[in-house]
Formats: sequence, C-alpha cells, structure tokens
Amino acid sequence: MQVDCFPTAQEAARHVAKILIDTVQAHPATVLGLATGRTMVPVYAEICDMAPTSFGDAVMFGLDEYLGLGAGDPGSFHSYLERQFYDHLNPPPRLRCLPDGRACAPVHEAARYEDAIRANGGIGLQLLGLGGNGHIGFNEPGTAFDSRTRVVSLSQATRAANAGQIPGGNVPHKAITMGIGTIRASRRCVLLATGAAKAAAVNHMMHGPVDPSCPASALRLHDDVLVVLDDAASSQL
Ligand code: GLP
Repeated sequence: MQVDCFPTAQEAARHVAKILIDTVQAHPATVLGLATGRTMVPVYAEICDMAPTSFGDAVMFGLDEYLGLGAGDPGSFHSYLERQFYDHLNPPPRLRCLPDGRACAPVHEAARYEDAIRANGGIGLQLLGLGGNGHIGFNEPGTAFDSRTRVVSLSQATRAANAGQIPGGNVPHKAITMGIGTIRASRRCVLLATGAAKAAAVNHMMHGPVDPSCPASALRLHDDVLVVLDDAASSQL
C-alpha cells in the first residue's frame, strides 16, 4: 500500500482527480470504478474543473446503489453521480453503469452487474471511499473477502452516517454493492479518506489485522493500492 498525505481534504481530492484524469488520458478506454459519498464531492468538482468537456471513452461503473432508489430519487447514487459528475461531462449513457436499485429481481440485477463488469474486461482503476466502520462500497464488517456483487443489508452505523445524504433521512435497509472480491479484481485501487472521523478506520485498515472485521483491510492483499489522506485522516497512523 502506498500512502500519499496532504495537509487538506481539498488538496487530497485534487491529487485523486489528477490521477483519474491522467489515467483516462493515457488509456482513453479505461474502465473506471466510481465511488460516491461526501468525500468524493470535491474529487468530481476538481475533475469537472480540470477536464470540463470530455472524460475520454471511459466506461464508468458505480460501486453501489441503494435498493428501492433509482435514477429519479435525489438520495440515490444514480442521481448523485448525475449531479456531481455526469451533468458536467456528459458521457454518453452507454458509458454510465450502476446497479438498478429499483430492479424487480435485485439478486439477478446484482449478478447482471457483476457480469457486465467482467464483460468489459474488469475494472482498471477503482476509486474508493472508506466508511467509519471500515466498509468499502457497502461491504460491511464481516464480509467475506471473495464476495462478489450482491444484495446486502446495511448496518445501523452506516444508515446513520448516510442519513444526511437522503432527503428525509430515510436510508434504505439494503443495497446492491460490488463485493470485496470484485474490488480486489480491479487492476488498481485508489482509496481517498479525509477528516478525523475516518482516522480510526484508516489505522485499522493499514495496521490492524487483515480480516473481515475491517473490510478495507482486504486491500492489503492487493498489490496496487494507493491510499490518499489528509492530515486529519492520517492522525492515528
Ligand atoms: C458510503 C458508500 C461508500 C462511501 C462511504 C463513505 O456508505 N457506500 O462507497 O465511500 O460510505 O462515505 P462518505 O464519503 O460520505 O463518508
């Protein structure tokens, strides 16, 4: 695991934005895995500033989606990515991929999504945030390291942490998420964590046991992971 640390969250986000832009410039048809959450808002804003008109031919796979929420719901990750990213860069719809949280057969939808990632040759660069309990995607503590895209139940801690992101605070109990095995199959992972609330999870990820009690510790089994932090998130290292 390589670690790049910056004094502020904005500088850390800018660094990650440059990595994504450089990757797409070097390999225009790269397959990107995109994360959502508050941490990523400045990353997408920086990319929109730096690459305002085009983002290559990159196919983009979102990490996860709430079950029961779809493109028209303001709390969905569909609408998050539209607002933060796609509305500015306008990639053709065929390049925007996310699990359908409103699919009538969510288990099949999860399998379809995993197959779609495989059919595109797997993820080249996976962007990741970090949950306060060490989750990546929506893979909560206890998740097997070989798990693939599937329907999961969200912990109370995760639902509480994300309540502010959903109008009315009504966070669904379930989601579809790429699995830890799906994420580990990416050729490169870039994890961004900022703020003091992530410091304990960052420490656990990097120095705790490599086991499912901290899903992000699985990244230590991957040979190309960059962890980008601000000073606050690195304060317990
Ligand atoms: C959410 C998402 C993750 C995200 C994480 C951190 O639950 N499923 O993909 O990385 O939690 O979110 P935030 O950046 O808002 O703290």
